[in-house]
Amino acid sequence: MTSGKTSVCGVIAYPVEHSMSPMMHNFFAEQTGVDLNYMPFKVKPEQVKEAVEGAFALNILGLNVTVPHKQAVMEHLAAIDDAAAAIGAVNTLVRQENGYKGYNTDAPGLLRAMTEAGMTVKGRTCILLGAGGAAKAAAYVLAKEGAAKVYVLNRSLERAKILSEEINGRFGKEILFPMKLEDWREIPEKGCLAVQSTSVGMHPHVDEAVIEDEAFYEKLSDAFDIVYTPMETRFMKLASAAGARVSNGLSMLLYQGIIAFELWNPGVTVSEETAERAKKLLIDFLGGKA
Ligand code: ATR
Repeated sequence: MTSGKTSVCGVIAYPVEHSMSPMMHNFFAEQTGVDLNYMPFKVKPEQVKEAVEGAFALNILGLNVTVPHKQAVMEHLAAIDDAAAAIGAVNTLVRQENGYKGYNTDAPGLLRAMTEAGMTVKGRTCILLGAGGAAKAAAYVLAKEGAAKVYVLNRSLERAKILSEEINGRFGKEILFPMKLEDWREIPEKGCLAVQSTSVGMHPHVDEAVIEDEAFYEKLSDAFDIVYTPMETRFMKLASAAGARVSNGLSMLLYQGIIAFELWNPGVTVSEETAERAKKLLIDFLGGKA
């Protein structure tokens, strides 16, 4: 029960009504026995500064940050974790003495989700579909985890180039190779790990995939879609039909949440069992759209 000692966390977003984070974090609190309440905060883009300063003044322990504030929030923080700085986006604020420190738990959340699905990165040829905000966290993970090569396929070549230059510069070697989406036939390798980071195929556009040609999917042995509505996207269906191992992005959402919860509560671990049960809650919640 909420008392004078209860810690408060929350998510800032605009809109925020769709967020599953309150449900997930309040469940973690209940299961771990941590005295914490997690609330949704609808924050307009022009009020991000006031929101962060106000949260700090209100002694709020931590915040998640999501669309459209992941970049904008960065200039209002006391510190930024190195990986979050490299990715250029922050999704978790952790209270420190002089202000909040920004982290990106999407990247380690993706890594944990891929690992759980049995997908390895080290030494692999990877294909990253998309070059937007979500792609950046994925590109960082693939480079950091030792991918041999990452083809960045994007509709706008310019954006793929900017992302590739940034990450290659950060890691000091040519890991990412930008390409136009329709040039995928130029990729000679097979057995690739693909990460689908665009919003194509997301509910209600469930009959769309960023690449339709079956021959593309013959190149893949692992296919991770960041999208989780529907639970099985068209991209996953096409990859599955070609014999690839597939995963949707629901466990990425779950693990980014768990990593944030553990950052706010040092010494607390969310058990595998709680993670499993939280995932079921998310699936039930999404039931109508899946
Ligand atoms: P997010 O933060 O969710 O990644 P974003 O930064 O707007 O959102 O990026 C969206 C990504 O999806 C981009 O890679 C975008 O391609 P462009 O850079 O060419 O715009 C991609 N995308 C969105 N709609 C698409 C479509 N219909 N076909 C192909 N790619 C699409």
